[in-house]
Amino acid sequence: MHIFMTGATGYIGSAVLDALIRAGHQISALVRRPGQAARLAARGVTPVMGDLEAPHTYLPVIAGQDAVVHTALEGSAKRAEKEALALDAVLPALAAGSGPRAFVYTSGVWVLGDTSTATDETMPVNPIAFSAWRVPHEARVLAAGGNGLRTIVIRPGIVYGGGRGIITDLLKEALNGLVRVMGAAENRWASVYDRDLADLYARGLSSPGASGVFHATDESDERVIDIVQAMANHVVMRPDIRHVPIEEARQKLGGYADALALDQCVRSPRARALGWTPTLRSISGNVPRLFEELRASGV
Ligand SMILES: NC(=O)c1ccc[n+]([C@@H]2O[C@H](COP(=O)([O-])OP(=O)(O)OC[C@H]3O[C@@H](n4cnc5c(N)ncnc54)[C@H](OP(=O)(O)O)[C@@H]3O)[C@@H](O)[C@H]2O)c1
Repeated sequence: MHIFMTGATGYIGSAVLDALIRAGHQISALVRRPGQAARLAARGVTPVMGDLEAPHTYLPVIAGQDAVVHTALEGSAKRAEKEALALDAVLPALAAGSGPRAFVYTSGVWVLGDTSTATDETMPVNPIAFSAWRVPHEARVLAAGGNGLRTIVIRPGIVYGGGRGIITDLLKEALNGLVRVMGAAENRWASVYDRDLADLYARGLSSPGASGVFHATDESDERVIDIVQAMANHVVMRPDIRHVPIEEARQKLGGYADALALDQCVRSPRARALGWTPTLRSISGNVPRLFEELRASGV
């Protein structure tokens, strides 16, 4: 397939890019810096210099693609606005095409809110304020499907593996002697290994009937405290674990603190029905491997 990607230099996007290259697809990718363009070009990817908020930089490339995979997200407070601009441009361009086409949108399990009981893709969303902007974006993507265009919304859990992301930050804190968690940290995080997540994108694209919402979680339902204890047990100089009150965390992190405090138990039956089987089933059970991946990443 000819696939245009956004976010190919990001944490999720780089894992997805690896999987799509391995599967033999022809990739073009939106990039913001010449150095990134050169690195991607060296891997056979066609770089497209531009920015999410400037659709004229990438719209000409959309025509003729079999699929667009969107994993980019602007880090600033304008993230929702910039993503809306991109959706405004890309969805009609893809809808106007012919032949089978696909659009894959990256959302996240945080749109589900607290899920004390197991929650699958059929359950309604219940986002906290931090993630509320995503819900209309998901709805727009799903509504754009039809006439040969398949639209797919992937909701990853918290991603682990490699040298980036929330779990990697905890591994680094453990190495540095002080791990911070919120409150008692008895809340459960829904999570997924980066390479398993990337495999789901590849499967979704290559499964002709796949459309709609897919959760991507390893279904381990691990408590945050168990994750950090497993990390602490593995480090030679055992780190302190500091329990930060949620109010103090909110002052520092804003609404992001509420996302990290969510208690989530998320199932992925629609993803599994595509034949997707996560190879890693927990963070705490793979701590030595995750420390090794962090070391190998060189960060
Ligand atoms: N990581 C997780 O645990 C996780 C879990 C669930 C859902 N998600 C969601 O998955 C998506 C990707 O997350 P991530 O962790 O991979 O993020 P990330 O590592 O920060 O990557 C963001 C990507 O977006 C690109 N980007 C940012 N602003 C852009 C702009 N204005 N124009 C073009 N490209 C732009 C970045 O390019 P540069 O290299 O130029 O900065 C980078 O490639 C997000 O929507 C996130 O909320 C993440």
